[in-house]
Amino acid sequence: MNVTELEQTMKQLGATGKGILAADESVATITKRFTALNIQSTEDTRRDYRELLIATPGLSDYIAGVILFEETLNQKAHDGTPIPELLKKVGILPGIKVDKGLIIMTNTQDEQITQGLDGLAERLTEYKTKGARFAKWRAVYAISNKTPSKMVIKENAHGLARYAAICQSVGIVPIVEPEILLDGDHTLERCAEVSENVLHAVFNALYKNKVKLEYMILKPSMVINGSKCTTKATPEEVAKATITVFRRTVPAAVPTINFLSGGQSSEQATANLNAMHTLYPNLPWNLSYSYARALQDYCMKTWAGNPKNVAAAQKAMAVRAKLNSLAATGKYKPTMEKETSTA
Ligand code: 13P
Repeated sequence: MNVTELEQTMKQLGATGKGILAADESVATITKRFTALNIQSTEDTRRDYRELLIATPGLSDYIAGVILFEETLNQKAHDGTPIPELLKKVGILPGIKVDKGLIIMTNTQDEQITQGLDGLAERLTEYKTKGARFAKWRAVYAISNKTPSKMVIKENAHGLARYAAICQSVGIVPIVEPEILLDGDHTLERCAEVSENVLHAVFNALYKNKVKLEYMILKPSMVINGSKCTTKATPEEVAKATITVFRRTVPAAVPTINFLSGGQSSEQATANLNAMHTLYPNLPWNLSYSYARALQDYCMKTWAGNPKNVAAAQKAMAVRAKLNSLAATGKYKPTMEKETSTA
């Protein structure tokens, strides 16, 4: 394990007030998002959009790393510069989503597990030669009365830990992403119970696989009510529930926790992160963001596939990144949202 390399990457990705932009939607996912906005999804339009994001003026003030999908890692910008090079030029680290998506686990109630461990070391080595310095692997857990099952919790923890160990062995920092889905009518309390179980299992598996917690990033969901729950938790309630669970389960050796947004609105994801900092100023971990939708939604809508909208879309991206950067140190105020609407 090349510790110096991992240390350098962690230092950059864990910088106070900076976050990670998840721009690693699979072709199917980005196509779904584009289609909803009447944007054609082709290799070229996807490249144009991702180039727009990366070339946002001032992005590196708020974003330390961008997670790419394999397609983007291999693409070139309009001037011929490979996309990972473009990121490096602006002082942002390129990362790569390396899991191969979800499959149904046999003998469960249609619960999903993540695949992609076969040949992972070889793929990572190749991605590294192309500039990737960190990676992402996502596991999902659906909440219902009977799920997530013990089988799925165990299997997903095992996959995340094996992946993380392989990443570190080749000098790549792993983002460990156990996502408890927002879908459903579950309460905040039920989400807290599931989150505690899931995170215990994940850290137990990481320990058993000898993963060095100092060189990994945890990318969790917040502890929050389901999207169809009749009661909607306030930012303070989300912050209290999330930090209570994390204090019980996430060792202080983990340098940085970077949340996913999971379908929360842009404003909600920012306000919830901010509340964690205002209520808990002395947390053992850096607490920041690794959002896809909550960073990109306004930007993608503003762009709408039209080259004439690039500058306005980049402004929307910069505003959202700045607001989240402020939230990552507890300096965000909802009144600042006016700036977004004028972007
Ligand atoms: P969202 O912030 O849209 O949940 O995406 C984060 C992510 O990387 C999902 O894997």
